[in-house]
Amino acid sequence: MAEPLAIRPARVDDCSAINDIYNHYVLCDTCTYQTEPDSLEEREAWLLGHGGPHPVLVAEQRGQVVGWGALSPFHPRAAYQASVEDSLYVRRDRLRAGLGRALLTALLEQARALGHHTVIALISAEKSGSVALHAELGFERAGYLRQAGYKFETWLDVVFMQLML
Ligand SMILES: CC(C)(COP(=O)(O)OP(=O)(O)OC[C@H]1O[C@@H](n2cnc3c(N)ncnc32)[C@H](O)[C@@H]1OP(=O)(O)O)[C@@H](O)C(=O)NCCC(=O)NCCS
Repeated sequence: MAEPLAIRPARVDDCSAINDIYNHYVLCDTCTYQTEPDSLEEREAWLLGHGGPHPVLVAEQRGQVVGWGALSPFHPRAAYQASVEDSLYVRRDRLRAGLGRALLTALLEQARALGHHTVIALISAEKSGSVALHAELGFERAGYLRQAGYKFETWLDVVFMQLML
């Protein structure tokens, strides 16, 4: 039987678990173009900068944070205010158990409730699982940038995916 899952707003005391999940991908994977891990102080400042129209959610199982997702401003210019970018990270030992789908579904519910107009995902093109998950939840491919990223001595293409709410 699947373990019970709670999706709830992130708290400051989740920041260490959020970093543990995320920094693994920073160091080992091209799904994020960040190359240096976040410190706890940076993560706490990031969380404090969210909230309101830009929620951060965590997925919790048996009292452990096993994934997180966020809606962040797509662009700092004011006219982009109803456009948000989603982020999703599932703990590496819990992949492919439905957590990413649950987190993205919850983020989209929040995006609608908050009155956002569109959600945009920037996905490294070789991350076909993430592309498939976004497509499953209604996102369509909206653009493609060639070799916009460079990590692990490899040029990386970026897919833009977009959902109109
Ligand atoms: C992308 C990510 C969030 C998906 O989360 P997940 O919990 O592993 O995915 P789910 O189990 O919810 O999968 C939902 C669906 O997405 C698709 N999918 C997810 N991972 C996939 C993979 N590796 N290969 C192919 N399809 C995949 C499938 O359609 C899947 O449905 P199915 O399992 O019934 O076939 C997760 O792989 C992750 O954290 N990756 C690293 C970070 C990342 O790439 N984040 C996205 C940045 S935009």
